[in-house]
Amino acid sequence: MSSGEQAPNVAALIGDLDRLAGAFADEIGALATEQEIRLAQARYLGKKGRVSELMKALGRLPPEERPAVGEAANRAKASIEGAVATRLAALDEADLAADLARVVDVTLPARGAALGTLHPLTLVRREIEGIFLGLGFEVRTGPWVETEWNNFDALNTPPDHPARDMQDTFFVEGGRILRSHTSPVQIRTMLSEPPPIRIVAPGNVFRRDDDATHTPMFPQMEGLLVDKGVSFADLKGTLLYFVHRFFGPNLGVRLRPSYFPFTEPSAEVDAACYLCAGSGLSAGRSCRLCKGSGWIEIGGAGMVHPNVFRAVGYDPQAVSGFAFGMGLSRMAMLKFEVDDLRSFYEHDVRFLAQFR
Ligand code: PHE
Repeated sequence: MSSGEQAPNVAALIGDLDRLAGAFADEIGALATEQEIRLAQARYLGKKGRVSELMKALGRLPPEERPAVGEAANRAKASIEGAVATRLAALDEADLAADLARVVDVTLPARGAALGTLHPLTLVRREIEGIFLGLGFEVRTGPWVETEWNNFDALNTPPDHPARDMQDTFFVEGGRILRSHTSPVQIRTMLSEPPPIRIVAPGNVFRRDDDATHTPMFPQMEGLLVDKGVSFADLKGTLLYFVHRFFGPNLGVRLRPSYFPFTEPSAEVDAACYLCAGSGLSAGRSCRLCKGSGWIEIGGAGMVHPNVFRAVGYDPQAVSGFAFGMGLSRMAMLKFEVDDLRSFYEHDVRFLAQFR
C-alpha cells in the first residue's frame, strides 16, 4: 500500500475498495453464527477495519479526486452491510426451519402442576372441627380485638387476677385488648343464643410471650356445651371420644385438678401418649414424645362456673355445662411430631409441603 509523501494511486484505491466488498461476501458465506458475522463485520467496517485503513490515504489525495474514492468507500460499506443483513436473515430462517422440523412427541405426559398444600394448623383445625361437628357441635368464631368484659369480667376473672396484668395481655386503643384466649366466644355465644349450646370456637389468641415454646399469637380451640343436667362425666366422655378420634383408639384421658376462674371444678387434660401407648417406652427407650411420662398435655377444661352463667343471664340452677380449651399448634406438634413451634410460622415451603 502507498505511504509517505507520494500521493496514492486513485484507481488502485477504488479497485481495492471494490475488492474488499467481494472478499467480505466470500468470508461470511462460511460463518454460522451471528457473533462470528458481527466480528467479521468489525474487521472490515470497524475503526481499525480494512475499509478505514484504506481511507487513511484519502487525506493525501488532491481534493478533486476525493469524491470518487469516497463514493467507492460508501459502496463498499453498503455492500458489506447488505451482505451482513442477508446472511443474518438466512441464519434466522434456517433456525426456524430446524425448529419446525423437530419431531414433537405429543403423547408424552404433561409435567404436573405444583399443587399447594393446606397449612398443618389448618389441617388440624379442620380435623378437630370435623370430630366435634360429628357430635352435633357447631363452629362459632369471635373477633381478635375484644372488650375486657368479654375476655375477663364475664369469665369470672376479677380485676386483680394475674392474667389481666399488662405483662400478659396486649392492650389496644379504645380500652380494648387482643383476646388472650378463645373463651370470650363462650360469652358472645351465650349472650346471643339461649341454651342448649354446643359449640367449638377456633381462632387466634394473643399473649405477651415469645420464646422457643411460645409465640405472641397462637391458635386455640374452645369448646362449650350447656344443657340441663350436664355433668363432669359428660366432659370426660367427650374428651375421651375426641382423643380416640384424633390420636388413636384405646388411649386413656387423665384429668388433673387445676384452676381456671371460669370453670369449677377445673382440670388439666392429658391424653395417653399415642406414640408409646402410654407406656413411656418406645423402642426400648424413654419415649421421645411424652419424655417417658406416658401422658401428653392437651388443654384445660372444667364445669362452667355459675358466675359465668349469671354474667350472660343464664340460670345456674336450670342449666349446667362444661368448657374446654386447647392449643391447636400444640395439637399439630403432637400429631405431626414437629419439635419447633416456630416452624409453623416461618412459611418455609420445604416444611409445609410435607403435610398433605
Ligand atoms: N381459656 C383457657 C386458657 O386459655 C383454657 C380453658 C378453656 C380452660 C375452657 C377451661 C375451660 O388457658
